[in-house]
Amino acid sequence: MKLKLIGPDYASLECDALVLLEFENSPRADLASSLTAFRESGEITGKAMELTLLHSVAGHKARRVLLAGAGKPDKFDIPTFWKLAAAAARFLKGKGVKSVAIALEAGLDTPDHVSAVTQAVIEGCWEPDRLKTAADKDGSRSIEDLVISVPTASAALQSALRVGQIIGEAANLSRDISVEPPNKLTPMALAEHAQAMAKANGLSCEVLDTDRMRQLGMGAMLGVAQGSAQPGAMVIIEYKPETRNGGPAAKLALIGKGVTFDTGGISIKPSDGMEKMKYDMCGAAAVIGAMQAIAQLKPAVAVLGIIPAVENMPGSNAQRPGDIVTSLSGKTIEILNTDAEGRLILADAITYAKQLGCSHLVDAATLTGAIVVALGNSQSGVFTNNDELLGRWMTAAKSSGEKMWHMPVDDEYREMLKTVYADIGNVGGRPGGASSAAAFLKEFVGDTPWIHLDIAGTAWLDDAKPYMAKGPTAIPLASFVKLALDWK
Ligand code: BES
Ligand code: ZN
Ligand code: ZN
Repeated sequence: MKLKLIGPDYASLECDALVLLEFENSPRADLASSLTAFRESGEITGKAMELTLLHSVAGHKARRVLLAGAGKPDKFDIPTFWKLAAAAARFLKGKGVKSVAIALEAGLDTPDHVSAVTQAVIEGCWEPDRLKTAADKDGSRSIEDLVISVPTASAALQSALRVGQIIGEAANLSRDISVEPPNKLTPMALAEHAQAMAKANGLSCEVLDTDRMRQLGMGAMLGVAQGSAQPGAMVIIEYKPETRNGGPAAKLALIGKGVTFDTGGISIKPSDGMEKMKYDMCGAAAVIGAMQAIAQLKPAVAVLGIIPAVENMPGSNAQRPGDIVTSLSGKTIEILNTDAEGRLILADAITYAKQLGCSHLVDAATLTGAIVVALGNSQSGVFTNNDELLGRWMTAAKSSGEKMWHMPVDDEYREMLKTVYADIGNVGGRPGGASSAAAFLKEFVGDTPWIHLDIAGTAWLDDAKPYMAKGPTAIPLASFVKLALDWK
């Protein structure tokens, strides 16, 4: 998509469609004569997400004007704006529109608005039907030119546009990887995606194979991998900044759960809906996308992307409930349920990140069904051992428009993981399941500042929305990138 930022003269812009916002109870003063009948008939109210397409509007060179309902001004935050812009893009692309302009009027011309709108349009155009062979598939239609009009074009807004573009493209890369079927996207294929991204963006990337992981002692990771005919891999992608903020020692680890398919293993899952467990690597895909955006935006902090990649299968060599494995940290883990595999591979990834000198850890994982029960599909769960890092994280999430909710991970949840046979068990019972999973990870984190994101409810959409295709959402990629960009 070609992008351009211009000043306020959107009326004389020639394009297929111009998007203008209409707020509830405060009708636009311009276009009055063209809109009177629509307003009187109640077709245009300004209610949130209302889209009205008008042709050949007087005073505008654009071939169409799309009036986009923004709802009540006091409720118009970044997530709302993001959804509206993406819905407008999807609507217009469906009409065969190729060139679009969006006017951001006074008050909506902040860097966060400009990057959100750019990102939303790019992500809104994404479709999951790449493997369809039909010529008329949704993915064959897209917006090719996007112009954003603001009251005063400035260098700050120009750079916000670039941030939005880079994050949007990275999110779509992440979604392309996530949507790949599990017969194609094996753990090694996931590692190859990381390597290809790293090569294309000048990052280094190392892939630890089974032998290397055994030498290092990654027993928790290998225990999960051993049930599959497909070997596992630990992937490390490295970004080194030219200049640094936060002192020379600051090194951020972004760790993503990369289970390319989760059958549950011997503690096998019910078959209904199991196909969705191809999305159990969305955390990993968000890390790959975030590392691409980080390579392009060059934040002033060192970042390692770490991906434990495995397939959780019930093969003849699969680990059993009752097995005890020795993790990279040296701690022993009793496997009580082989379906709680994400925390096992993350335990070794977290220990490895610390061994590599990371000073701050952020992991993203489709970790528990319990977080979906607690928060549904609109908010990711956030767990932490450090209020200062939590503050930075929530600021990053707010600016990216990804909704996050702080959840507890107190010592009581660690109690639930006690077992007489090993240092820790891998499950803690149904109540508080998202928090006991986080407590398991915390055992391996120790005192290093850490954020854990449980994205089981937010990593993909089961059904298409007006603003987004069915399938992966790339959450929390944008917040990962903003955290690194704003590092102090
Ligand atoms: N990948 C699943 C979690 C999941 C569930 C993600 C639903 C997305 C949607 C994870 O590996 C898992 O199976 N967790 C178990 C843990 C339990 C055995 C303690 C779960 O949540 O049921
Ligand atoms: Zn599982
Ligand atoms: Zn899983």
